[in-house]
Amino acid sequence: MSTAKTFKPVRKAVFPVAGLGTRFLPATKVMPKEMLPLNDRPLIQHAYEEARDAGIEEFLFVTGRQKEMLEEHFDYQPELIETLERRGKTDMIEKITNSEMPEGKLFLTRQPRPLGLGHAIWCAKKLIGDEPFAIMLPDDVILAEKGCLSQMVEAYNETGGNVVAVMDVPKKDTAKYGVLDIKSDDGKIVDIQGLVEKPLPENAPSNTSIIGRYILQPEVFDHLSAFETGAGGEIQLTDAMAKLIGNQPFYGLRYEGQRYDCGSRLGFIEANIAYALQDDEIGQDVSNILTKYK
Ligand code: UTP
Repeated sequence: MSTAKTFKPVRKAVFPVAGLGTRFLPATKVMPKEMLPLNDRPLIQHAYEEARDAGIEEFLFVTGRQKEMLEEHFDYQPELIETLERRGKTDMIEKITNSEMPEGKLFLTRQPRPLGLGHAIWCAKKLIGDEPFAIMLPDDVILAEKGCLSQMVEAYNETGGNVVAVMDVPKKDTAKYGVLDIKSDDGKIVDIQGLVEKPLPENAPSNTSIIGRYILQPEVFDHLSAFETGAGGEIQLTDAMAKLIGNQPFYGLRYEGQRYDCGSRLGFIEANIAYALQDDEIGQDVSNILTKYK
Protein backbone atom coordinates (compact mmCIF):
# COMPACT_ATOMS: atom_id res chain seq x y z
CA MET A 1 0.00 0.00 0.00
CA SER A 2 1.27 3.48 -0.89
CA THR A 3 2.22 5.73 2.02
CA ALA A 4 2.49 8.86 -0.15
CA LYS A 5 1.00 11.94 1.49
CA THR A 6 -1.73 13.89 -0.25
CA PHE A 7 -1.90 17.65 0.02
CA LYS A 8 -4.83 20.01 -0.46
CA PRO A 9 -5.17 20.61 -4.22
CA VAL A 10 -4.28 23.94 -5.83
CA ARG A 11 -7.59 25.05 -7.38
CA LYS A 12 -7.33 28.83 -7.48
CA ALA A 13 -4.92 31.22 -9.15
CA VAL A 14 -4.50 34.94 -8.54
CA PHE A 15 -3.51 37.18 -11.46
CA PRO A 16 -2.32 40.56 -10.11
CA VAL A 17 -2.92 43.00 -12.97
CA ALA A 18 -3.30 46.35 -11.20
CA GLY A 19 0.24 47.66 -11.82
CA LEU A 20 0.88 50.84 -13.81
CA GLY A 21 3.25 49.35 -16.41
CA THR A 22 5.35 52.52 -16.46
CA ARG A 23 8.17 50.86 -18.38
CA PHE A 24 5.90 50.62 -21.43
CA LEU A 25 4.62 54.19 -21.48
CA PRO A 26 3.13 55.62 -23.62
CA ALA A 27 1.82 52.24 -24.92
CA THR A 28 0.28 51.56 -21.51
CA LYS A 29 -1.16 55.02 -20.94
CA VAL A 30 -4.67 53.63 -21.53
CA MET A 31 -4.13 49.96 -22.46
CA PRO A 32 -3.17 47.54 -19.65
CA LYS A 33 0.36 46.14 -19.95
CA GLU A 34 -1.12 42.66 -19.61
CA MET A 35 -3.01 43.18 -22.91
CA LEU A 36 0.21 43.66 -24.92
CA PRO A 37 0.23 40.92 -27.59
CA LEU A 38 2.87 38.23 -27.44
CA ASN A 39 2.66 36.67 -30.92
CA ASP A 40 -1.08 36.07 -31.42
CA ARG A 41 -2.50 36.54 -27.92
CA PRO A 42 -2.20 39.00 -25.06
CA LEU A 43 0.12 38.30 -22.14
CA ILE A 44 -2.84 37.67 -19.82
CA GLN A 45 -4.10 34.88 -22.08
CA HIS A 46 -0.72 33.11 -22.04
CA ALA A 47 -0.90 33.15 -18.22
CA TYR A 48 -4.54 32.02 -18.19
CA GLU A 49 -3.85 29.07 -20.52
CA GLU A 50 -0.85 27.97 -18.46
CA ALA A 51 -2.99 28.03 -15.29
CA ARG A 52 -5.90 26.22 -16.94
CA ASP A 53 -3.54 23.53 -18.27
CA ALA A 54 -2.23 23.04 -14.73
CA GLY A 55 -5.74 22.19 -13.50
CA ILE A 56 -6.66 25.58 -12.02
CA GLU A 57 -10.44 25.89 -11.71
CA GLU A 58 -10.95 29.46 -10.47
CA PHE A 59 -9.26 32.55 -11.89
CA LEU A 60 -8.98 35.60 -9.65
CA PHE A 61 -8.00 38.92 -11.22
CA VAL A 62 -6.80 41.78 -9.01
CA THR A 63 -7.52 44.73 -11.25
CA GLY A 64 -7.51 48.51 -10.98
CA ARG A 65 -8.50 51.60 -12.91
CA GLN A 66 -8.52 51.33 -16.73
CA LYS A 67 -8.18 47.53 -16.60
CA GLU A 68 -11.70 46.59 -17.74
CA MET A 69 -10.36 45.39 -21.09
CA LEU A 70 -8.79 42.40 -19.29
CA GLU A 71 -12.14 40.98 -18.19
CA GLU A 72 -13.78 41.83 -21.54
CA HIS A 73 -11.11 39.78 -23.28
CA PHE A 74 -12.32 36.58 -21.62
CA ASP A 75 -16.02 37.17 -22.38
CA TYR A 76 -18.25 35.45 -24.94
CA GLN A 77 -18.37 37.61 -28.10
CA PRO A 78 -21.54 36.56 -29.98
CA GLU A 79 -21.39 39.15 -32.81
CA LEU A 80 -17.79 38.31 -33.59
CA ILE A 81 -18.44 34.57 -33.60
CA GLU A 82 -21.53 35.02 -35.83
CA THR A 83 -19.52 37.05 -38.33
CA LEU A 84 -16.70 34.50 -38.37
CA GLU A 85 -19.25 31.70 -38.88
CA ARG A 86 -20.80 33.56 -41.84
CA ARG A 87 -17.33 33.93 -43.34
CA GLY A 88 -16.47 30.26 -42.74
CA LYS A 89 -13.45 31.13 -40.56
CA THR A 90 -13.71 28.12 -38.26
CA ASP A 91 -10.02 28.17 -37.29
CA MET A 92 -10.47 31.71 -35.97
CA ILE A 93 -13.59 30.70 -34.01
CA GLU A 94 -11.51 28.09 -32.26
CA LYS A 95 -8.93 30.73 -31.36
CA ILE A 96 -11.63 33.04 -30.01
CA THR A 97 -13.37 30.40 -27.91
CA ASN A 98 -10.01 29.39 -26.45
CA SER A 99 -9.95 32.81 -24.78
CA GLU A 100 -13.37 32.40 -23.16
CA MET A 101 -13.41 31.82 -19.43
CA PRO A 102 -15.68 28.98 -18.22
CA GLU A 103 -18.92 30.30 -16.71
CA GLY A 104 -18.73 31.26 -13.05
CA LYS A 105 -14.96 30.80 -12.87
CA LEU A 106 -13.68 34.37 -13.24
CA PHE A 107 -13.60 36.43 -10.05
CA LEU A 108 -12.59 40.05 -9.84
CA THR A 109 -11.41 42.24 -7.04
CA ARG A 110 -9.74 45.63 -7.17
CA GLN A 111 -6.59 47.10 -5.78
CA PRO A 112 -7.51 50.78 -5.43
CA ARG A 113 -3.90 51.98 -5.35
CA PRO A 114 -0.83 50.15 -6.70
CA LEU A 115 0.92 49.76 -3.34
CA GLY A 116 2.97 46.75 -4.42
CA LEU A 117 2.64 43.09 -5.38
CA GLY A 118 2.15 41.98 -1.75
CA HIS A 119 -0.74 44.40 -1.37
CA ALA A 120 -2.30 43.22 -4.66
CA ILE A 121 -2.24 39.63 -3.41
CA TRP A 122 -3.67 40.68 -0.04
CA CYS A 123 -6.65 42.17 -1.92
CA ALA A 124 -7.57 38.59 -3.00
CA LYS A 125 -7.59 37.27 0.60
CA LYS A 126 -11.37 36.79 0.86
CA LEU A 127 -11.56 35.12 -2.56
CA ILE A 128 -8.85 32.61 -1.63
CA GLY A 129 -10.14 31.64 1.82
CA ASP A 130 -8.31 28.82 3.52
CA GLU A 131 -6.59 26.83 0.79
CA PRO A 132 -3.29 26.77 -1.11
CA PHE A 133 -3.30 28.92 -4.24
CA ALA A 134 -1.18 29.87 -7.23
CA ILE A 135 -0.02 33.32 -8.28
CA MET A 136 0.67 34.09 -11.94
CA LEU A 137 2.47 37.29 -12.94
CA PRO A 138 1.40 37.72 -16.57
CA ASP A 139 4.48 39.72 -17.50
CA ASP A 140 6.66 36.67 -16.88
CA VAL A 141 6.15 34.16 -19.70
CA ILE A 142 7.75 30.75 -19.87
CA LEU A 143 8.13 28.94 -23.15
CA ALA A 144 8.12 25.26 -22.18
CA GLU A 145 6.96 21.89 -23.38
CA LYS A 146 5.06 21.36 -20.14
CA GLY A 147 3.71 24.58 -18.61
CA CYS A 148 5.69 25.99 -15.69
CA LEU A 149 2.70 25.90 -13.33
CA SER A 150 1.98 22.26 -14.29
CA GLN A 151 5.57 21.41 -13.33
CA MET A 152 5.11 23.26 -10.04
CA VAL A 153 1.83 21.47 -9.23
CA GLU A 154 3.61 18.15 -9.82
CA ALA A 155 6.39 19.21 -7.44
CA TYR A 156 3.85 20.45 -4.87
CA ASN A 157 2.03 17.12 -4.97
CA GLU A 158 5.31 15.55 -3.83
CA THR A 159 6.44 18.17 -1.29
CA GLY A 160 3.37 20.09 -0.07
CA GLY A 161 4.09 23.45 1.55
CA ASN A 162 5.07 26.40 -0.62
CA VAL A 163 6.70 26.08 -4.04
CA VAL A 164 8.06 28.99 -6.09
CA ALA A 165 9.61 28.91 -9.57
CA VAL A 166 13.31 29.82 -9.47
CA MET A 167 16.18 30.48 -11.88
CA ASP A 168 19.79 31.59 -11.72
CA VAL A 169 20.28 35.22 -12.77
CA PRO A 170 23.52 37.14 -13.42
CA LYS A 171 24.91 38.27 -10.06
CA LYS A 172 24.78 41.92 -11.22
CA ASP A 173 20.96 41.65 -11.59
CA THR A 174 20.02 40.47 -8.08
CA ALA A 175 18.55 43.90 -7.23
CA LYS A 176 15.72 43.18 -9.68
CA TYR A 177 14.53 39.99 -7.96
CA GLY A 178 13.55 38.19 -4.78
CA VAL A 179 16.69 36.16 -4.02
CA LEU A 180 17.02 32.80 -2.21
CA ASP A 181 19.10 31.90 0.80
CA ILE A 182 19.61 28.23 -0.01
CA LYS A 183 19.69 25.39 2.53
CA SER A 184 20.13 22.58 0.01
CA ASP A 185 19.81 22.17 -3.74
CA ASP A 186 19.54 18.89 -5.67
CA GLY A 187 19.56 20.64 -9.05
CA LYS A 188 15.77 20.55 -9.34
CA ILE A 189 14.26 21.22 -5.92
CA VAL A 190 15.84 23.90 -3.74
CA ASP A 191 15.15 23.89 0.00
CA ILE A 192 14.91 27.57 0.96
CA GLN A 193 15.96 28.94 4.35
CA GLY A 194 15.53 32.64 3.63
CA LEU A 195 14.45 35.22 1.03
CA VAL A 196 15.66 38.77 0.39
CA GLU A 197 13.85 41.21 -1.89
CA LYS A 198 16.01 43.10 -4.39
CA PRO A 199 19.41 42.82 -2.65
CA LEU A 200 22.46 44.55 -4.09
CA PRO A 201 24.87 41.94 -5.56
CA GLU A 202 27.27 42.33 -2.61
CA ASN A 203 24.46 41.55 -0.12
CA ALA A 204 22.71 38.80 -2.09
CA PRO A 205 22.77 35.36 -0.39
CA SER A 206 22.87 33.66 -3.84
CA ASN A 207 22.09 34.45 -7.46
CA THR A 208 19.07 32.14 -7.52
CA SER A 209 15.90 34.19 -7.84
CA ILE A 210 12.14 33.83 -7.81
CA ILE A 211 10.25 34.43 -11.04
CA GLY A 212 6.54 35.15 -11.42
CA ARG A 213 4.98 31.80 -10.46
CA TYR A 214 4.12 30.80 -6.91
CA ILE A 215 2.15 28.16 -5.01
CA LEU A 216 1.56 29.47 -1.51
CA GLN A 217 -0.27 28.47 1.63
CA PRO A 218 -3.01 30.82 2.88
CA GLU A 219 -1.00 31.68 6.03
CA VAL A 220 0.91 34.18 3.85
CA PHE A 221 -2.11 36.48 4.31
CA ASP A 222 -1.40 36.68 8.08
CA HIS A 223 1.89 38.37 7.21
CA LEU A 224 0.58 40.48 4.31
CA SER A 225 -2.11 41.87 6.62
CA ALA A 226 0.58 43.80 8.54
CA PHE A 227 0.90 46.08 5.47
CA GLU A 228 4.62 46.53 6.13
CA THR A 229 6.50 48.29 3.36
CA GLY A 230 9.84 46.97 2.12
CA ALA A 231 12.13 47.57 -0.88
CA GLY A 232 11.04 50.56 -2.97
CA GLY A 233 8.47 51.58 -0.31
CA GLU A 234 6.10 48.86 -1.62
CA ILE A 235 4.31 46.10 0.28
CA GLN A 236 6.42 43.18 -0.88
CA LEU A 237 5.22 39.60 -1.32
CA THR A 238 8.78 38.34 -0.76
CA ASP A 239 8.88 39.79 2.77
CA ALA A 240 5.63 38.03 3.72
CA MET A 241 6.83 34.74 2.19
CA ALA A 242 10.12 35.02 4.11
CA LYS A 243 8.13 35.01 7.35
CA LEU A 244 6.56 31.64 6.48
CA ILE A 245 9.98 29.99 6.33
CA GLY A 246 10.72 28.00 9.45
CA ASN A 247 7.01 27.41 10.10
CA GLN A 248 6.24 25.76 6.77
CA PRO A 249 8.24 23.91 4.11
CA PHE A 250 9.41 26.33 1.41
CA TYR A 251 10.85 25.10 -1.87
CA GLY A 252 12.09 26.48 -5.16
CA LEU A 253 11.55 24.53 -8.38
CA ARG A 254 14.14 24.82 -11.13
CA TYR A 255 11.53 24.49 -13.88
CA GLU A 256 12.27 23.42 -17.43
CA GLY A 257 11.71 26.14 -20.03
CA GLN A 258 12.84 29.55 -21.15
CA ARG A 259 11.54 32.53 -19.19
CA TYR A 260 11.11 35.98 -20.72
CA ASP A 261 10.67 39.16 -18.71
CA CYS A 262 7.86 40.79 -20.66
CA GLY A 263 7.68 43.59 -18.09
CA SER A 264 10.76 45.08 -19.78
CA ARG A 265 10.88 46.25 -23.38
CA LEU A 266 13.92 44.15 -24.24
CA GLY A 267 12.50 40.97 -22.70
CA PHE A 268 9.18 41.58 -24.43
CA ILE A 269 10.81 41.99 -27.85
CA GLU A 270 12.91 38.85 -27.35
CA ALA A 271 9.83 36.89 -26.29
CA ASN A 272 7.98 37.99 -29.41
CA ILE A 273 10.86 36.78 -31.57
CA ALA A 274 11.06 33.43 -29.73
CA TYR A 275 7.29 32.80 -29.85
CA ALA A 276 7.05 33.84 -33.50
CA LEU A 277 9.95 31.54 -34.47
CA GLN A 278 8.21 28.49 -32.99
CA ASP A 279 4.84 29.34 -34.59
CA ASP A 280 3.86 26.74 -37.24
CA GLU A 281 2.27 29.33 -39.48
CA ILE A 282 4.86 32.11 -39.55
CA GLY A 283 8.00 30.65 -37.92
CA GLN A 284 9.96 29.99 -41.12
CA ASP A 285 9.12 33.40 -42.59
CA VAL A 286 10.14 35.13 -39.38
CA SER A 287 13.45 33.28 -39.46
CA ASN A 288 14.00 34.47 -43.06
CA ILE A 289 13.14 38.04 -42.13
CA LEU A 290 15.60 38.00 -39.23
CA THR A 291 18.51 37.17 -41.54
CA LYS A 292 17.99 40.62 -43.12
CA TYR A 293 18.99 42.28 -39.85
CA LYS A 294 22.18 40.39 -39.11
P1 UTP B 1 5.65 45.06 -11.91
O1 UTP B 1 6.62 44.96 -10.82
O2 UTP B 1 6.12 44.70 -13.27
O3 UTP B 1 5.05 46.54 -11.87
O4 UTP B 1 4.42 44.14 -11.53
P2 UTP B 1 4.18 47.36 -12.91
O5 UTP B 1 3.66 48.53 -12.18
O6 UTP B 1 3.14 46.51 -13.57
O7 UTP B 1 5.18 47.81 -14.08
P3 UTP B 1 6.32 48.95 -14.11
O8 UTP B 1 7.43 48.48 -13.23
O9 UTP B 1 5.71 50.25 -13.66
O10 UTP B 1 6.71 49.00 -15.56
C1 UTP B 1 4.35 42.74 -11.69
C2 UTP B 1 2.89 42.31 -11.72
O11 UTP B 1 2.23 42.70 -10.51
C3 UTP B 1 1.13 43.55 -10.76
C4 UTP B 1 1.37 44.12 -12.16
O12 UTP B 1 0.14 44.45 -12.80
C5 UTP B 1 2.11 42.98 -12.86
O13 UTP B 1 1.21 42.02 -13.41
N1 UTP B 1 1.06 44.59 -9.70
C6 UTP B 1 2.18 45.27 -9.33
C7 UTP B 1 -0.15 44.86 -9.10
O14 UTP B 1 -1.20 44.25 -9.44
N2 UTP B 1 -0.21 45.83 -8.14
C8 UTP B 1 0.90 46.52 -7.74
O15 UTP B 1 0.77 47.38 -6.84
C9 UTP B 1 2.13 46.24 -8.36
